[in-house]
Amino acid sequence: MTATKGLEGIVATTSSVSSIVDGVLTYRGYDIDDLAENASFEEVAYLLWFGKLPNASELEQLKKDLNANASVPDAVIQQLKLYPKNTNSMAALRTAVSSLALYDEEANDMSRESNVRKAIKLQAQLPAIVAAFARIREGKEPVAPKADAGSIAENFLYMLTGEQPNKIAIEALEKALVLHADHELNASTFAARVTVATLSDIYSGVTSAIGALKGPLHGGANEAVMAMLEEIGTIDNVESYVQNKLANKEKLMGFGHRVYKNGDPRAKHLQKMSQELGKITGNLNWYEMSIKIEDIVTGQKGLKPNVDFYSASVYTSLEIPRDLFTPIFAISRTSGWTAHILEQYENNRLIRPRAEYTGPATQKYVPIEKR
Ligand code: ACO
Repeated sequence: MTATKGLEGIVATTSSVSSIVDGVLTYRGYDIDDLAENASFEEVAYLLWFGKLPNASELEQLKKDLNANASVPDAVIQQLKLYPKNTNSMAALRTAVSSLALYDEEANDMSRESNVRKAIKLQAQLPAIVAAFARIREGKEPVAPKADAGSIAENFLYMLTGEQPNKIAIEALEKALVLHADHELNASTFAARVTVATLSDIYSGVTSAIGALKGPLHGGANEAVMAMLEEIGTIDNVESYVQNKLANKEKLMGFGHRVYKNGDPRAKHLQKMSQELGKITGNLNWYEMSIKIEDIVTGQKGLKPNVDFYSASVYTSLEIPRDLFTPIFAISRTSGWTAHILEQYENNRLIRPRAEYTGPATQKYVPIEKR
């Protein structure tokens, strides 16, 4: 038995949810470029869950269901108030999502109908949790979700600020949500599938996924990118900062990818958004710094930006606090996680690979007085 480090290149399951072939990402056969330009996040979530784009009444019904389920149980809100104010927002989200199961009577119902209901509920409740925690830690009361929100993007921005967001902000967030919704067998989705393949419940699967997404080699990279941009500060500092990192063989966050070697197809959409939002806000500093970093890193190392690189400046232009970037990724990826969980349940087999043993050879037990 020989291990493949990081399971690189291992095909661990079949899936009809999304695919990456020759650098092209599709959700259920629809090219991400097409969806990013044309689809709403709710259409994409429906597509991921049900395998087809919704018609007008199906979409209307889904939006109604999402709005109807957006309120988080009061016990969970009270719990959020007890978390330390400086708790990492992904840790807060992970704990709160885990505890949602305690207040859902059908948490352990394994029927498909129940799991679809819970997927919609989770999709509706994550934005409310993220927004509520963001406000509570600032000493503010959570804002109840709008009952008639046009979209999750609108409702999330509304719950975050208590004010009706503008159209540009809603559309930008919407597109970011579409771009992050699913990504084949990424680390967090794999974690979700491994968890539910034991026939554990959907809340356990999503909680595992949030834990995996939190790390800086995965979803946590978008926050790390913004931390880097803030540390660099101005465009004049980019060259020396990047050269120093490269010389020390340190990783530059937001670059590289396990699967894409010729560039992440999502990055160009976020780059364009970053530039457009920079023009609208009158602050192109983050965008211009990002372009310069990309020129150097791609020029010298051949590494291309991934989805996390330009999303950092996009969210900053939307005045979203840095440590909510990864929770927003989780809001979007909940659609993909739950679609994969439903797929796993449909055709389940325990996921249990092997390890190549590298420890000591067979040893004989030595009584404690003789050690
Ligand atoms: N900066 C500098 N060098 C890098 C980077 C980077 N961002 N990414 C990879 N490399 C280098 C490595 O140092 C290594 O070089 P070596 O062969 O000389 O040792 C080589 O490229 C291969 O890198 P690995 O880390 O082995 O590649 P792997 O496929 O395991 O990792 C990963 C992919 C984790 C995304 C990696 O590129 C990375 O750490 N990037 C930075 C973090 C990041 O942006 N994560 C978000 C990914 S997208 C997402 O999850 C949503």
